[in-house]
Amino acid sequence: MNTTKTVNTHQASPLAPEWLQLPADLNVLHSPMWAGDVERNDDGELAINGIPVSRLREEFGTPLFVMSETDFRSRARAFKDAFDDAFADICGGVDVYYAGKSFLCSAVASWVADEGLRLDTCSGGELAVAAKAGIEGPHLGLHGNNKSDAEINRALDMKVGRIVVDSLAELERVAKIASDRSGVAKVMLRLTPGVHAHTHEFIATAHEDQKFGLSMAGDSTDEAGLSAAEEAVAAATSYASIELLGVHCHIGSQIFEADGFALAAAKLLDFLAAMQAKYSIVLPELDLGGGYGIAYTPVDSPRPPAEIAQAMAAVVRSKCAELNIQAPRISIEPGRAIVGPSTFTLYEVGTLKTVRVDSPTVSGDSADSGTANVTHPRRYVSVDGGMSDNARPVLYDADYSAILASRASAAAPQLSRVVGKHCESGDIVVRDVYLPEDVAAGDLLAVPGTGAYCWALSSNYNYLARPGVVAVRDGSTRLIVRGETEEDLLNRDMGVAND
Ligand code: LLP
Repeated sequence: MNTTKTVNTHQASPLAPEWLQLPADLNVLHSPMWAGDVERNDDGELAINGIPVSRLREEFGTPLFVMSETDFRSRARAFKDAFDDAFADICGGVDVYYAGKSFLCSAVASWVADEGLRLDTCSGGELAVAAKAGIEGPHLGLHGNNKSDAEINRALDMKVGRIVVDSLAELERVAKIASDRSGVAKVMLRLTPGVHAHTHEFIATAHEDQKFGLSMAGDSTDEAGLSAAEEAVAAATSYASIELLGVHCHIGSQIFEADGFALAAAKLLDFLAAMQAKYSIVLPELDLGGGYGIAYTPVDSPRPPAEIAQAMAAVVRSKCAELNIQAPRISIEPGRAIVGPSTFTLYEVGTLKTVRVDSPTVSGDSADSGTANVTHPRRYVSVDGGMSDNARPVLYDADYSAILASRASAAAPQLSRVVGKHCESGDIVVRDVYLPEDVAAGDLLAVPGTGAYCWALSSNYNYLARPGVVAVRDGSTRLIVRGETEEDLLNRDMGVAND
């Protein structure tokens, strides 16, 4: 006969992944995951810049993206200062382009400009936001592997500082469009250095198997055996309507170590030196892209910008000396590392359900029912948003963390899974987290680190309205993107035929 035993929930759950530690105190915030001005106040409630989350719920409802303007600005400045310092003796400083794809609205674009950064865009829509914010054209970059003629024209109308050209065909198109307008397009070439970095590792391959950029490998289809990158340099310099500024690479996202950036920088500097030797072309700029990682869970340890900047500067300095070339002006494009930790998502808890799950086997599967089946509780905590406001767990298996925000609790930790309200069982917000056992409907949960690629990737799946974004600074709030209403949800629906 099978006997089912239950296990004391005060112990770590065997269902928890290895990396998830049982926290000593569930009320304590792990600071790398949070904006600098978020804390638990004397009443035990989560507060940002002194404003308790209950007030944010009252004023703006949930779900809600809560962004610390102070934190965003200080991270933006920290990148600029750290890279300026590290590269001061090499090229006089660094141009930092905030990657708007991570999160963009006109308020954020204006903070970026205030803090001395530039803005990297990747579509006509993002250029429109930049225009609405009044960002000067020369401080803008335009990316994209499939830019339309309209986007190229818009960039030229706005006099953007650089169009980052992704292919030979696009180079030709930009040259023609600029020439038809009797203008000159300022261009960078996006190269694929064969370095791809993801999370903790990077791999160097001979050839990048992906859609972006011009290959640096010398086995292109060119008759002379030139790489696509070299062909593009030669072609770019032959067009009177193109001013070639330099080369660019972006090796991946959510990267913690500097090695991948350093290797890519070395490869691009080799390329610049080769172009100089072969064609006497001196390209004055080198963009090393974005990709700096952040903490989503307590086990992530991002490096401070200064550490990464110094490691990259050391490579650029020694490589330029070795190649005997003048260092180009360096630029970078961080997105996630500036906006990610500035924001948390505030949700209200609804339905709770606890299931009992068999002990996992060594392979991680549930054990077959044996004679003494030990089961463990996993609690499903449903919140009033989900994959429509954070698609990253579904898209990338991304891990997040969560904390009870409306009050402190002394209750025992219980392994929980925070799920959304969508009609999909994969609609998971936080796969594994310990939350207090007494979390109840009506409580508020906060998920940190949601500033990047959450609102930006949000959808109206199941006709859910996308949440608003409220910015907090100096003890006051400002809605920088309002949440959608039912009217918004219906206003592109053209109605039934006889409406
Ligand atoms: N520059 C270029 C050319 C890029 O393609 C990207 C990101 C960045 C800069 C900024 O990278 P960051 O510093 O934010 O890592 N949706 C995915 C990430 C896609 C990244 C796309 N490109 C995610 O949520 O993880």
